[in-house]
Amino acid sequence: LPVPPMSIRFDQSAGTLSPEGPTLTRRMSDLEGLFRDHAAWQKAVADGDPVVYSVISSPVPEIDRELPQSITTIQPGTTAGELWMTKGHQHPNHQGEIYLGISGRGGLLMFDGTETRWVEMTPGTIGYMPPGWAHRSVNIGDEPYSFLAVYPGGAGHDYGWVLEHGMGLRALSGTDGVEFVDYVEG
Ligand code: PA5
Ligand code: NI
Repeated sequence: LPVPPMSIRFDQSAGTLSPEGPTLTRRMSDLEGLFRDHAAWQKAVADGDPVVYSVISSPVPEIDRELPQSITTIQPGTTAGELWMTKGHQHPNHQGEIYLGISGRGGLLMFDGTETRWVEMTPGTIGYMPPGWAHRSVNIGDEPYSFLAVYPGGAGHDYGWVLEHGMGLRALSGTDGVEFVDYVEG
């Protein structure tokens, strides 16, 4: 159902939006096939299956011509050196999207099937995803990383695309910050 003009409040300490739409929690077990080290992923699932990230949404519906928003919070952590991240997806109809850094330190990894781009995200950074660029977010700090996403209501989420094509590069925790390796080799 469409919603009236409104303001939406984000309470950062409580991690809530009001009014609020659907909330999504992604645990390690929801990230099957995404980390390069499958055995380390399995072990993390067996060892308590931690929450990796959560997504809270505004009440604006995901339907064409609407402009929904959500706030993602990725916990700090690594699995066999690979920084904790979102699943990543492509928009089936190749619509663009923006993110706004809210707190913590992160990165926005984008892949168009050929080239990979990395945008470092700090509070106040706007990251732009042009049409046709799959996107994944990574927490590169040692506190939770939160960002606001604003996207066309009809954009959709194609997770299979990333399972099939990868993201070009992987972000690992390096000695002085992030270190990148080829997606396939790890
Ligand atoms: O619209 C977006 O791109 C974001 O809100 C993501 O959906 C969110 O960050 C979670 O990532 P993913 O959908 O890849 O699990
Ligand atoms: Ni998206």
